[in-house]
Amino acid sequence: MLEGKKVLLIVSGGIAAYKCPDLVRRLRQRGASVRCVLTNGGAEFVTPLALGAVSEDKVYQELFSLTDENEMGHIRLSREADLVLVAPATANILAKMAHGIADDLASTALMASDKPILCAPAMNVRMWENPATRENIATLAKRGVAFIGPEEGDMACGEWGLGRMSEPDQIADAVDDFFRQGLPLNGIRSLVTSGPTFEPIDPVRYLANRSSGKQGHAIAAVLARLGSTTTLVTGPSHQPDPAGVKMIKVETAVQMLAACESALPVDIAILAAAVSDWRVEAAGTSKIKKGGDKKPPQLSLVENPDILATLSAAGNARPRLVIGFAAETDDVIANATKKRAQKGCDWIVANDVKPETGTFGGDANTVHLITEEGVEDWPKQSKAAVADCLAERIVDTLTSAQ
Ligand code: CTP
Repeated sequence: MLEGKKVLLIVSGGIAAYKCPDLVRRLRQRGASVRCVLTNGGAEFVTPLALGAVSEDKVYQELFSLTDENEMGHIRLSREADLVLVAPATANILAKMAHGIADDLASTALMASDKPILCAPAMNVRMWENPATRENIATLAKRGVAFIGPEEGDMACGEWGLGRMSEPDQIADAVDDFFRQGLPLNGIRSLVTSGPTFEPIDPVRYLANRSSGKQGHAIAAVLARLGSTTTLVTGPSHQPDPAGVKMIKVETAVQMLAACESALPVDIAILAAAVSDWRVEAAGTSKIKKGGDKKPPQLSLVENPDILATLSAAGNARPRLVIGFAAETDDVIANATKKRAQKGCDWIVANDVKPETGTFGGDANTVHLITEEGVEDWPKQSKAAVADCLAERIVDTLTSAQ
């Protein structure tokens, strides 16, 4: 979700600074690039080497360093960021921010910034409760500075109370939430399934299909880009994990159903996986051997649970909008329309998967959207473009339902 976002992390002098390399790592895992400014106090608790190694960038410390100023002046430092994150934000740096004091690189960069600022305060409980800090926080909040934490708990000084810096993952979530604001699917939870399932015959062999996962992964990627909190449950696929998406990787249909149920409640479910209709009834733990006058094994198959039908009939847990796919080789529209009714979903995206269409495994898709209102024929386009069009329709539908 933070793909392409630039965060300027200002690390001031609190013991919680030791958590900053982890914070940088988590922000980068979510796709952000992070540039660090370290105060003198901060450098007592975490080294520039550690921050530089995890951010893979220079760590800026000195206001009057000729090299730092030549490479990246304090004005550019803050202007090039999309968000300035102060973590830990000590009582001292909050006071400087509130009173316009610029006496080192961190406070000067903050003064020079025209970018949104998010602070993760960390200090002793009495410092947090001190009227001076209370007033500084109120002043900064009035100016639009956002805060995450502090949390209640044991502190390094041995006391207990409000003042612990929020954990790196919580801070990364707050950064994520910040960038989601204003996006059309902010606050909407989505579940997407993708890829094939593998149904074991024995420990080395399995039943599968030709699905690549391209379409489902592209849908999860665009939903996340539009601000939706997205979970992607995928069967085995070579597609890269989409940015900002919670991944649950499974092999079988039974596992896929369990993973989908564990992801509920969601607002939207888009089931694009090519789920195997059957599994081998008694898949053993020993490899089936051939040879001699043995006959080839006869596989006895049982039907897999239907995930789309199950979620469509989930009562109170039913997502507001359930969308299925229909992979058809003949009578595409008629069969898909029947499937929509049988499975009880809201929309069906029907696609022709005859080998000559190259849909399975290919990059393009020709689909028809079947809704209560009728059938829409979409032109042949890339799977990413199909995902964009579907997301656009979802945004329109959810907005008009409000
Ligand atoms: N689906 C599912 N669980 C299954 C089988 C299918 O959730 N066990 C979903 C697919 O993800 C898709 C839709 O149902 O969204 C239709 O899948 P498709 O393979 O086209 O149809 P089937 O229901 O398997 O029926 P058939 O194979 O007879 O066409």
